Amino acid sequence: MTNKLEIYKCNVCGNIVEVLVSGVGELVCCGESMELLKPKNSNSDNGLTEKHTPEIITDNESTTIQMTEHPMTENHYIMMVQAEDAEQNNVYTKFFHPNDKVEMKVEGVKNIKKAVSYCNIHGLYEKT
Ligand SMILES: [Fe+2]
Repeated sequence: MTNKLEIYKCNVCGNIVEVLVSGVGELVCCGESMELLKPKNSNSDNGLTEKHTPEIITDNESTTIQMTEHPMTENHYIMMVQAEDAEQNNVYTKFFHPNDKVEMKVEGVKNIKKAVSYCNIHGLYEKT
């Protein structure tokens, strides 16, 4: 059983997929069950949370998701941020490369309830 917007990883080939529509089946890749990536928190990651948790900044006209503390080097960088509203009807995703500034501005949107980030080394984090 999967749920909408869950993110799964294949620990054999590195495929990472996100669920658009939930189903009862199990996700399999390279002949093995895919791992459900659960966002890490301060209790589980030895102090890495602060650098990996996206900020949600809302003003009168937009919402900005940003991360300023995390490295953006060739070997260690934030690959993606995603933001969603409470109903998961509006979902915004931006992909990044080494040396990019991690910032996603969503014009005209003020009801973001959750943002997630994915670090190529440390995995998934969230801000709610
Ligand atoms: Fe990291």
